[in-house]
Amino acid sequence: MPDKIQKIKAYWDAQGRQHGSDLRATMPDPLLKELELDALKEVLDPSKATLEAGCGNGFNLFALQKSFQASLCGFDYSEELIKAAIGHVAKEGYTDIDFSVGNILDDLSATGEFEQIFTDRCLINLSTHEEQCQAALNLASILSSGGLLALVECSKQSLDNLNRLRNAAGLSEIEVHWHNRYLDEDEFIAALSDEMIYVQTVAFSSLYYIASRVFNAALTSEGDSPDYMAEINKCARKLPSVGDCGPHKLFLFRKP
Ligand SMILES: C[S@@+](CC[C@H](N)C(=O)[O-])C[C@H]1O[C@@H](n2cnc3c(N)ncnc32)[C@H](O)[C@@H]1O
Repeated sequence: MPDKIQKIKAYWDAQGRQHGSDLRATMPDPLLKELELDALKEVLDPSKATLEAGCGNGFNLFALQKSFQASLCGFDYSEELIKAAIGHVAKEGYTDIDFSVGNILDDLSATGEFEQIFTDRCLINLSTHEEQCQAALNLASILSSGGLLALVECSKQSLDNLNRLRNAAGLSEIEVHWHNRYLDEDEFIAALSDEMIYVQTVAFSSLYYIASRVFNAALTSEGDSPDYMAEINKCARKLPSVGDCGPHKLFLFRKP
């Protein structure tokens, strides 16, 4: 495994050791996680065998399981996060959810075939456009014909839009974490379109980001950290999204 990937994996292993099956292992903002799950539930068919690639400690799959009839599988390259997921299965007695250790950049043929596959901020942990495309094509290789590839990933263009608003409000720009590379969405969609049918992009987090990362941030006293559970955030989480200022987006493709 190249050095950079090992360093990023070590970060996720440490998150797994520190937080176990808690949401904080992979997401500091509970309302944003609810929005991600809403967006996924909107497009995933609960009667179809489903895989999450880069599933972390299984938080999404445990949430989806409540409304799914079909089996759910998840893999992640972090042994620590998968250990937390398997521990949670044992503790809660879940059936029909399987977890395994695996790298999205490896040959995935042993994983089996799925009718739908999703990611949630997995590809942004890869360091180059080429790796991000390779990972998506690896997933396509284990998708049934006509199957859905649903990618909740972060967009560089939407972050730029958000930062323009933050600049105008006198706030500093939000920087991409050292272990992330946000998708150049135009480049990414164009590159995948040779092998996959591009369906649409859903900008589900835009209003929430404007409320939480512009209005709430601007209203927070200097020196304090904005509260993820502020009333304005709770209100924005309930409203339909508008605009294109939320980096978290859902990119939908179908296999021909
Ligand atoms: C931001 S976390 C999200 C976890 C989960 N999808 C969620 O929404 O709770 C990103 C996850 O991608 C995993 N990941 C990153 N690169 C990976 C790779 N090359 N192969 C498999 N998993 C990877 C990390 O270990 C981490 O669990």
